[in-house]
Parts: sequence; C-alpha cells; structure tokens
Amino acid sequence: AQKQAITLKVNRKTYKLDVEPRETLLDVLRERLDLTGSKKGCDHGQCGACTVHVDGRTANACLLLAVMQQGREITTIEGIAPGGKTNGQERLHPLQAAFIKHDGLQCGYCTPGQIMSGVAVLRDGHADSPAEIREWMSGNICRCGAYAGIVAAIESVKK
Ligand code: FES
Repeated sequence: AQKQAITLKVNRKTYKLDVEPRETLLDVLRERLDLTGSKKGCDHGQCGACTVHVDGRTANACLLLAVMQQGREITTIEGIAPGGKTNGQERLHPLQAAFIKHDGLQCGYCTPGQIMSGVAVLRDGHADSPAEIREWMSGNICRCGAYAGIVAAIESVKK
C-alpha cells in the first residue's frame, strides 16, 4: 500500500516517518522507533501487554492505527521515569520501583503494560482497595499470576 508521511509525538519527542495505513501504533513504536518496552502479547486487545497512554488515557497500542495518532501525546513505558540518575542508577517512576520491591513480576513480559495501567489507576483515584485495583487492572493479564505483587505494588504507591 501507499505509504503516508506522519508526525507522531512519543515521550515528548516528535518523530516524522512514513507508514502504511494498516500499521498499528504498537508495530510502529517497536519496529520503527525502537521503543520495544510495549509488548505484543495477543495483538487483539485482549491482554494489555501493549498498554500505552494516549492523551493521558490508557489504550491498547495493538488496536490503534499509527496514522490516526497524529496530534496526540503518546507515552510509553520508556517515557514515565523522571530521567537522570541517583548514585549512578537511573531514576525510576515510583511505581516501577514498587514493582521491584513488591515482586510485581515474574517473567516480566506483561510488566510494562501493567505499569502503564497502574500509573493511570493511581492517577485517576481507582486504588482505594485491593478489590478496586484488581477491577481497574482487569484488562492486564499476567500469565505467571503475579497479581498479588502487582496489587501490593500499586497499593504501596497510593499510600
Ligand atoms: Fe495489545 Fe494484547 S498485544 S492487548
């Protein structure tokens, strides 16, 4: 198909690139921009591994066409840490640190998506109880079953 010139804003950077109309945002992030933190689990909007923020709302990047995302602010897992280093270690977003501390992962494949959803859940005030967190995180599947750690990590940041 004919390629189309588009401009995407990802993690506060502007990218100009040529994409085919059928290319998903997920494929463009991973294959063109080398932002491979967002994962492809199902490619059908079922697992949440590809969760990013589009204009501040969570979205499954596998369900979005890249050509439709012009003018929107896209944030991926690579863009949520504050940047800079402390004692030679890259500074993490508080929820990234909490996932490590509370064992919110096992194989790690779903983790970027879990964290992107968790950041939104915390910001939108849906973390009042473990049950509420589980409900709002239900679009993110973890095949290792690390849910207890995931919920504990989100709760710990809420406090
Ligand atoms: Fe997008 Fe599973 S890869 S929801």
